[in-house]
Amino acid sequence: MTYANRPTILTGDRTTGPLHLGHYVGSLRARVQLQHEAQQFLLLADTQALTDNVGRHRKVTENVIEVALDYLAVGIDPEKSTILIQSQVPELAELSQYLLNLVTVARLERNPTIKEEIRLRGFERDIPAGFLTYPVSQAADITAFRATHVPVGDDQLPMIEQTNELVRRFNHTVEQPVLVECQAVLSNVTRLPGIDGKAKMSKSLGNAITLSASPDEITKAVNDMYTDPCHLRVSDPGQVEGNVVFAFLDAFEPDVDKVSELKSHYRRGGLGDSVVKRMLDERLQSLIEPIRARRRELADDRGEVVSILRRGTMRAREAAALTLSQVKGALGLSYF
Ligand code: TRP
Repeated sequence: MTYANRPTILTGDRTTGPLHLGHYVGSLRARVQLQHEAQQFLLLADTQALTDNVGRHRKVTENVIEVALDYLAVGIDPEKSTILIQSQVPELAELSQYLLNLVTVARLERNPTIKEEIRLRGFERDIPAGFLTYPVSQAADITAFRATHVPVGDDQLPMIEQTNELVRRFNHTVEQPVLVECQAVLSNVTRLPGIDGKAKMSKSLGNAITLSASPDEITKAVNDMYTDPCHLRVSDPGQVEGNVVFAFLDAFEPDVDKVSELKSHYRRGGLGDSVVKRMLDERLQSLIEPIRARRRELADDRGEVVSILRRGTMRAREAAALTLSQVKGALGLSYF
């Protein structure tokens, strides 16, 4: 398989739940565009999700289909992009095994994202070894497909850095340029806050709007959105910073002039929350409506979705096997 000079992109999502508007703004929207410009692999990271979901394996495996439905519903075209299931590409696990020898425990413990996740999950010193080493498995994902570009949020930058360290270390060890370094592509949209005003939209925090939200759920979420607690009367001047409704309008309303007019009106006073919320509700309804409809259609044809995943995974295996055979060859692991 040759990809000429098109960049190769790898993206991944842990399959712990269906995707939400935060994912849409942060990555999905861009991926739909990128599939025309690049060779794109979308990895359903079930193996990675298992590293901190011991005992919740059902949740992880059931959500593989949910995330795949989200991809397809927003417009990922399986003819243009390759959707694969991480656990079904054993070459990734095998490559991880070799890369694991090239990183120290001390280095793994220094990864700031891992540190933060350990803190959040309260693992203290009882860290599953697979969790501590998932950045290495992620490096295997990236290098197996010779990804040149990896679109990520800023929390994933340490993973890219660690991947490139492993690439250099591997190539230096075997004295051949077998693996390729990659480049992080940071999305230029600021992170979408949760409807409660918390910095991050997240399903586990219960502040998310999913891509399959019903019209009523959308309206309720918009009505519940945190605005400016001091904006009591319509005539009061209101604050736009930290106001979730405006953060959403920034993310979803293409008419930038209209948004900036609304903001100054709100700041001056005389613009009620309910008016702005109604506008946002309309925006989100028209955004999600076709996604929800397409998602439902696909969900009714599960066999077709499974077959898309099987084809994508097979295609991905071919690409990964090629890299793995070069890696093994360079290490001298070719006995027969
Ligand atoms: N770590 C990513 C997340 O938190 C998922 C992921 C797994 C990934 N492998 C990847 C992202 C490779 C980019 C590249 O969801």
